[in-house]
Formats: sequence, C-alpha cells, structure tokens
Amino acid sequence: MRYSAGLSPDFPHLVLTRRIPDCHKTSKKSADAPHRYTFSVVTTLSLSARAGLLKPSPTLAITSKAKAMQAEGIDVVSFGAGEPDFNTPESICDAAIDAIRAGFTKYTPSAGIPELRKAVANKFEVENGLKYTPEQVIVSCGAKHSVYNTMQVLLDPGDEVILIAPYWMTYADQIRLAGGVPKVVYTTSDSGFVPDPEQLKEAITPNTKAILVNSPSNPTGAVLPRETLKQIAALALRHSLWVIADEIYEHLLYDGEKHISIASLGKEIFDQTITINGCSKSYAMTGWRIGYAAAPLPIAKAMSNFQDQVTSNPTSFVQKGAVAALKLPASSMEAMRVEFEARRDLIHGLLTAIPGIKMPKPKGAFYALPDVSAYLGKGLATDLELAAYLLDEAKVATVPGSVFEGSGHLRLSYATSRSDIEKGVARIAEALKRIA
Ligand SMILES: Cc1ncc(COP(=O)(O)O)c(C=O)c1O
Repeated sequence: MRYSAGLSPDFPHLVLTRRIPDCHKTSKKSADAPHRYTFSVVTTLSLSARAGLLKPSPTLAITSKAKAMQAEGIDVVSFGAGEPDFNTPESICDAAIDAIRAGFTKYTPSAGIPELRKAVANKFEVENGLKYTPEQVIVSCGAKHSVYNTMQVLLDPGDEVILIAPYWMTYADQIRLAGGVPKVVYTTSDSGFVPDPEQLKEAITPNTKAILVNSPSNPTGAVLPRETLKQIAALALRHSLWVIADEIYEHLLYDGEKHISIASLGKEIFDQTITINGCSKSYAMTGWRIGYAAAPLPIAKAMSNFQDQVTSNPTSFVQKGAVAALKLPASSMEAMRVEFEARRDLIHGLLTAIPGIKMPKPKGAFYALPDVSAYLGKGLATDLELAAYLLDEAKVATVPGSVFEGSGHLRLSYATSRSDIEKGVARIAEALKRIA
C-alpha cells in the first residue's frame, strides 16, 4: 500500500491519498499491466489547529538559502546566524567528554542533576542578586525550551502576554501554542527600542497574564534602563501580572553597561518573575542545548512535571559540561565580549554611514537592526522584498525586520568576522545605491 500526501488549500487539513494496487473495484486500468487495477481513496485527515499555527522559521529559511548558495560556490556574506562564531571553551568540552567516558549516560532527574541546579542557583545569587533554591531551578533543552515550559504552565486559552516589539519571534509562536494571545507594544529606533510605560499600561486588559522582558534584546540590541524595569515591575505588581524575564544575552553588554535582573528589584517582583537564561550565548554553547528557568516554587514544580512528560532530562553528559561552564570565572569569556563590542562599533559605523539608514547603537547582544524604510516603497515595497533583493543581488543574507514585528528594518547578526562585516555592509551600500 502506498500513500501520498499533500496539503490542501485550507491548511491544516492534510489530504492523504491511499493507493491500493491490485484492487479490482477500480475504475482505472493500468496500461503496462492490464490485468492490474489501482484505485485511490481520498480521505481528509485533519491535523490539529495548533499545527496550523506554526510557520517555518524565516530566519532558518534565509540562513539555509545562504548556505545552499555557499555550497554552490557563491560567495555569500551571511548576517543571519543567531549564534556566537566562537568555539566552546576546552574545559567545558573536557567535562562532557569525561562524563561520557565515566558512563554518565543514563537518565537524570527531569529538572536537571542536583549539581547543576545548585550551580545555577549559585550563579543567580552571585551574578544577579537573586536567591533561588536549587528546587526553584529547572534545567531544560535550551532557553527556548525554558520559555516554552513557562508559557505552557502559565497560560490558559485567551490569556494575553505583552510583548515589546521588535521581539524574538519564538515568543509569539509559543504563546499561541499555549492558547494565549500575544499583545504587542511597538517601539521605534528613535526611542532606542525602549518601551514607553504608558503604552505598556494601555496594553493591559483583564485578560493580561504576563509581560515578557528581554534585555539585552534580540533583535534590537536594546538594554532596558533600570528606570524602565522599575516601571514594568510596578505595573506587574499593580495588575498582578507574571514577568517572564529572558536574560540569555546578559553577558554580552557594551559601553560598561551592567545587567539588571528585573527580579532583583524587590521581594514582591521576585515572587512574580520567571527568570530565564542559559549557556548558549554566554559560553558559545548553542548546540549543547542547555537553558534554565528559576521561578517561585509552584511554577518550578509545574514546569518539572511538564518536562517529565515531554522531554525528560536535558542530555546527561551535557549537563556536566554546563556545570563546568558555570564554574568558569566571569573573565573567561571576556575576550569574546570584547570582540563583539569591536564588531558592534564597526557595523554601527558602517551602516549609519549609508545615506538614509538610522539605528541606535546597540548596547548588548550581537544584532544590529537598522531602519531601512527610506529604501522601501519604490521598487521594493517591504523589508521582506529588500532582504530577498540583497540576497539575490548583493549576495548578503539578512533577516527581514517583519519577522520580529519590526517592519522597515533588517536584522544583521554581527556574530561574524570583521572582514565579513566590512565586505557585507559595502555590498549592501552598493546595492541600496542602485535602488535609491
Ligand atoms: C532572545 C532569545 N532567547 C532565547 C533564545 C534561545 O536560546 P537557546 O539556544 O538556549 O535555546 C534565543 C536564541 O536565539 C534568543 O535570541
């Protein structure tokens, strides 16, 4: 029996055609074997509405197109990647390899090995001034997974979560997957992508359950000032909202900025915050898949129960690598941070020298989000078309801002070499000149 499948226009219904050879009840005779018949039964087997919510990631689509072009020998400069172009430090690799050799390859507790939960709790206390117990820490398969668990245990259908746009698009998809509704507050480059608390206040409705804070931000590179964090905390307390704080880029800060965890602003806000972080960006460990969340105990327990049924533990020996990462002195990744800061200066200088392009200087993470709206509306109507034009004509991969609800912008990751930054931005400048 052979099956062929295709998506019907009214996606997400999957049309499944079942072809049954040698069946005599058919209307169609096979030409090369006249004694044989086939017939097709077309049934409509539906997928869940939830599956229909998911779209392929445009960032991955662009990076894979750029990679395919590179594989064909085309010299593409890619600003797509959301990961440090540095190697994971040796001592972390050694710890994981030693763990494999020592047979540390079995299931562990779902929420992580006690040693790692303790190391995370210690990190939060020393670096962030947050006193979580190890039981309040849940280690997951990347911070993306930690955000997912958070949405799943917090949201009921119809619950709203305030997102500050431009935002990392995964948040909106994960909110929807949990039945929730993203409520978007827009910011602009003029305000350095820092939200106006009045706007945040106006976005609160009786259905608002949480507000998500991502500082330093992907894709804007903005770092929220203490005053803004205080205002957000005050709103959360006044309206009984959870705060979901994604601090994955906390170590990548420039111009002497110091990271502030919103949960550190007082006991009350600590009790209403889920703090999320991980090893991916701080220790160049994106492929290892270690993220973690710390939360009030009932939330942490719910996340642990949830994870029990979905993934169980993050990979056993990888957790040993994460313990080694968290034991590294803060200075160990300083060279990477310093290099990112130099690249930030370089890309900011080159992009803002292009006529019509505006952007604030990013204060953290490794993304530049120039406003390219001056180049839209003539031949190319949207940032999506502009990104496609730059890839085809200039052989430069960028991510359209619309992906992050930041239309009129492009996101450029500067987790790439200085020479590529120079070459890529020069190509962009040339290509933009042609459509100006
Ligand atoms: C803002 C933000 N949060 C979380 C993540 C996920 O990181 P992880 O690799 O730990 O899943 C990313 C990855 O790009 C991110 O940009």
